[in-house]
Order: sequence, then structure tokens, then C-alpha cells
Amino acid sequence: MLQGKRILLIVSGGIAAYKALELVRRLRERGAEVRAILTKGGAEFITPLSLSALTEDRVYSDLFSLTDEAEMGHIQLSRAADLLVVAPATADILAKMTAGIADDLATTALLATDKPVLVAPAMNVRMWQHAATQENIGRLRERGVHIVGPNKGPMACGEFGPGRMAEVMEIIAAIERRLGTAGALAGRKALVTSGPTHEPIDPVRYIANRSSGRQGHAIAEAFAAAGAETLLVSGPVSLDDPPGVRVIKVESAREMLEACLAALPVDVAVGAAAVADWRVAGVPTQKLKKKAELPELKLEENPDILAQIARHREARPRLVIGFAAETERVAEQGRAKRQRKGCDWILANDVSAESGTFGGADNEITLIDDSGAETWPRLSKHAVARRLVERVARHLASESKR
Ligand code: PMT
Repeated sequence: MLQGKRILLIVSGGIAAYKALELVRRLRERGAEVRAILTKGGAEFITPLSLSALTEDRVYSDLFSLTDEAEMGHIQLSRAADLLVVAPATADILAKMTAGIADDLATTALLATDKPVLVAPAMNVRMWQHAATQENIGRLRERGVHIVGPNKGPMACGEFGPGRMAEVMEIIAAIERRLGTAGALAGRKALVTSGPTHEPIDPVRYIANRSSGRQGHAIAEAFAAAGAETLLVSGPVSLDDPPGVRVIKVESAREMLEACLAALPVDVAVGAAAVADWRVAGVPTQKLKKKAELPELKLEENPDILAQIARHREARPRLVIGFAAETERVAEQGRAKRQRKGCDWILANDVSAESGTFGGADNEITLIDDSGAETWPRLSKHAVARRLVERVARHLASESKR
């Protein structure tokens, strides 16, 4: 997390400037305070208004503005931050930084600062590969400037190669590393499913279950808090999106499967969703009409998302974790489910009506892995999530050492 950290974000002129808006959003979700300098070139791509709405602060751009100097001089602006981040960093601003040119507010702040600087270059592939840019990058690196990206890929100009600005979550991870706030799962990717699925009977009716999403959402939140790049694929729930988590909202099991498979590869996948085992075959396109005879619903089996992830040939996550929702012989059935689905760990929980697990605030877990079963005390779903994530972090760290 970046609670209380002050970031001075410098947005220079490039097509990737639009990603700076998302960067501000993600930084603020993590508790950072963000001040922004928008260069003249940057303002060609995004408006000061959108940046200001997201930072909830004024946007700084004019070196000679008397108001700025009265309220906050450029020296103070650059030193009041814990870190200066230039994203996107154009070839031009990198060259000015290298040469010590200070001809606008952004470059002046960069020259005047005594704080660490991180840059996320973004430019055309030829400009990136040009000897001048490579020399500048080398010199900035020698001076201790931290560089994240650029990534390889298709570019807005139609060319292909290195030059695309690093993804927002990569920049966040780099910021956390630079500020020493990186969590135990920094640099890891986590996929979590949560909530129920809705399986249509007709265009207006559906089959569902009592999952509220509280357990799955808490797990996604705990992964993000530990620094993992986290994707939550959620069925219909009435919860807020957890902070720092990318959320894909789906309705049916088949939609959930598609979103999960598209998210691979990840380091760890957790199936906390209560996926409907069956769906209605041949869903009519019109609402079923009430007639003398009752309608007959024919069910067919839904795909098993957890099993498909666990048995994925090319992109099986290093750790696949499922839940087992049981109403009797919880540990025994959990053990059998772990085998059947091919996952590494199963969190078996009692979902009988008297347990209050569905929709409730607490849960009681028996964790089953290849070495046996361990039962945790009754905990809040958030505490279950934190305990699980700590265990995942220990497991992945010990695996990396082997
Ligand atoms: O959402 P809450 O109100 O907080 O409640 C939490 C919970 C009870 C839903 C949660 O703790 C839980 O147990 N989730 C799994 C529910 C479930 O569907 O269990 P299952 O035993 O039917 O399935 C076993 C595993 O296979 C689960 O990881 C499930 O996500 C997965 N599965 C099941 C069927 C299917 N077609 N695809 C799947 O991926």
C-alpha cells in the first residue's frame, strides 16, 4: 500500500498520457496523495480538468504563475513529494533531464528535486532505439533514476517493438519497490472468482444461489494489499469493488470461465465463486408464458472453471486454490473435491443453513493440501483472506528458492 505517500506525477506529451489518469486512480486507491504537473505537450492529450478531478487538487503547469509561486514554489512542489514519477516520459523530457535543461515547470521540478525519480518511457520504437535516447537512459540510470518499461508491442503509430509505456500496474509495482512499500506478493499476479452465477431460465428469470461475494472479494482485496496484480472475476453481487483490484463482472458460469481463461497466465488462482453446477438447456429468447401445464426445465452441466484452470496445459497457475462448500462431512468431502478438481489447496467450509457462511461476515475453514488438513478458528472473512494470502506468499517464496 502507499498510504500517506506523496507522489508528484509529471505527465509529458505522448499518446500514453491517457494512462496517467488510470495511474492516478490506482495510486489514490492505495492511499497515495498525488499532485500532478501537466506539460504543454501532455495537455495536448489529456485535459487539466480530468487530471484535477482525479487528483482532487489543482494541476500545475505554469512555471511563472504567480499564484503557484505564492502558494507553492516549484522547489517546494518537487521536494514535498516522496517520489517524482514521469509517466509517460517522452524522448524529449528524458533528453532534457539528462542535459539538466529546465525550461518549464516539469523540467525545473525535476532539476530542483532531492527526491527519487522514476520514469516510464513511452515513444516510437525508433526514437527509443536511437543512440541518443539509449545514451540518455544509460546516464539517467547511472544517476539513480529508476526506469520502468517500455514494453514491446504494437504502437499507436502502427509500428511494433519496444516503446509502449509500461502497464499501470507495472508502474505501481515499481513505485512500491522504489518506496520500499512493496508487499510480499509484489510482482505476482492473482486471479480470484467471487459471488454467485446467474443462469438464465428465460430473458427475465434465472437460477442463482445465496453467495454474497464477501469471501471472494475479501480475498481479492487481501491479494492487492499484499502487492499482487489482482483480477477479480465476479458474478452479480451488491458489494463495492475492492480497492486496487481490477474487476470483471459476469453473469453466468460460461462468462466466468471465459474471463478466467483470458486472464491466464497468473501465479495464483482462487475459486471462491459459488458457480452454478447446472444451467437451463435451450433458454428461450422470449419470456415463458404461464400456461395450464407447468414448464419443464431441462438442465445441462456447466463447465467446471476450477478444474479447467487446474488442468490447463499451457498456463496452469503455480498455485490453484478452490473452495468446497459442504453441508456435512466437510473435511472428507473437501479432500475428495481437491482430488477431483486437480487443485493444490482446498478451503473447505460448512455452508449448512445454521453455519451462516453464505452472506455472513465470518467463516470457518479447513485447509486441505497434499500434507493433510488444518482447521482454522472461526474468523472474519477478511481475516480468512489475510491468512490465506500470507500462506500463499510463503508458499510462492519458498517455491522460488527451490
Ligand atoms: O460469497 P459469500 O456469501 O461470502 O460465501 C462464501 C462462499 C460460501 C460462497 C465461499 O466460501 C465458497 O465456499 N465458495 C465456493 C462455493 C462452491 O461453489 O463450492 P463447490 O463445492 O460447489 O465448488 C468447489 C469449487 O469448484 C469452488 O472453488 C468453486 O468455485 C469451483 N467450481 C464449482 C462449480 C463449477 N462449475 N465451477 C467451479 O469452478
